[in-house]
Amino acid sequence: MTRDAGGPVAAGAEHNEEAMTSDTPTAFALRGTIVDCGPAAGPRVGDEALRVTEDGALIIDNGRIVARGPAGEILREDSAHLPVHDYRDCLLIPGLIDSHIHYPQTDIIASYGEHLLAWLERYTFPAEAAFADADLARETADFFLAELFRNGTTTAMVMGTSHARSADIIFEAARREGMRLVAGKVMMDRNCPEAIQDTAESGYRESRELLERWHGVDRLAYAITPRFAPTSSEAQLEATARLAREFPDAYVHTHLAENRKEVAWVGELFPEARSYLDVYDRYGLVRERSMYAHCIYLDDTDRRRMAEAGAAVAFSPTSNTFLGSGLLDYRATREAGIRTGLATDVGGGCSFSMLRTASEAYKVSCLNDTPLSATSLLHLATRGSAEAMDIGDRVGHLDPGMEADVVVLDPAATPLTARRSARATLEETLFALFFLGDDRHVAATFVGGRNAHPERGPAP
Ligand code: GUN
Ligand code: ZN
Repeated sequence: MTRDAGGPVAAGAEHNEEAMTSDTPTAFALRGTIVDCGPAAGPRVGDEALRVTEDGALIIDNGRIVARGPAGEILREDSAHLPVHDYRDCLLIPGLIDSHIHYPQTDIIASYGEHLLAWLERYTFPAEAAFADADLARETADFFLAELFRNGTTTAMVMGTSHARSADIIFEAARREGMRLVAGKVMMDRNCPEAIQDTAESGYRESRELLERWHGVDRLAYAITPRFAPTSSEAQLEATARLAREFPDAYVHTHLAENRKEVAWVGELFPEARSYLDVYDRYGLVRERSMYAHCIYLDDTDRRRMAEAGAAVAFSPTSNTFLGSGLLDYRATREAGIRTGLATDVGGGCSFSMLRTASEAYKVSCLNDTPLSATSLLHLATRGSAEAMDIGDRVGHLDPGMEADVVVLDPAATPLTARRSARATLEETLFALFFLGDDRHVAATFVGGRNAHPERGPAP
């Protein structure tokens, strides 16, 4: 195992061979239309920039992108001997980044009915209790990662269950795949079934052991994961505060202000707090590397505080509509200067596809008078998520020096998208793919330069 210190990766930096998996890929080239986002000019929606290289090529060596440019320039001389995977009719985009998802909820995706709190009781807690069975957890973890790759998702911020083994198991699976993943064991010591409760003491101890075992190993990182304020006692929140102080570069991952009843409940449980966010803030959990899913019911003071602290929002539009939670004010979130990523939130969210999830983000933002362009949607699902997760120097765009997480999207994968894209501009094609595309359009998924979707793409 190797430790990854978490520092920045300079463009064109020498590749540290140890930082990649043992399944080291050989050098090769990808040819196609390269589409990614440059740095956003500012915090406003519309400040994002699309970068397109028609008939472009990426050279990938030892898990990193080492060259990018027009195919005519890149595929000659020094690289003429490399195998070229020719996707000239396809788009080469950065691996998609899901900033909040629950792997133990894979089997309850799209469960009928109920708002958040009843849905937790009826579907979620029983499904998570079943993860006492490590074999179920292992089988689900393998399925879950395959499903991410099938959908072009190469990085995710993942919640386990309260069982420490559930976190070990997803880390073991992700490490085998050589993927970049942030995960943690859920901490919850009240207001949930006894079978899935930990205690302030065991939650602290197990989280600390997991963190010491996994944080910074290969492409993995640990998230201190109190489920949400209602399921942690004050003693447990003190324990999360201690962990967050002791490990300032570990992540904090939780839910915030998702549903009106939940917000009212938090007000009753923590009457001294100014707001739901303030509950977490009192325990030092609002900081850089903290990821808050949902954030629908925030006020301007909360938004200012999140921006100033460098905390991030995971915009989870399919979950927010599926559970009837509400609509995130994405424009206000971005304009406040809060880092924001896109998230499926499976199983509250009803699709593993970040394309579909982006299309829902469009609809939600439309309802708030801010229709998002193809560029804004791509940014949100790649560079925006990467920056929200503080890994924007490693993944999320396709410059040389970046880790080679690359997805090949085929606009002609279905008759309708073939027809829709036949006479469309590139931006129109991309926009339509968010709405009409899904796993059928993912022609290949490269994770650290390795083909991670063996049913598609070149042979591994
Ligand atoms: N709030 C607390 N737990 C959960 C969960 O599992 N899913 C969602 N969507 N919200 C939550
Ligand atoms: Zn969630």
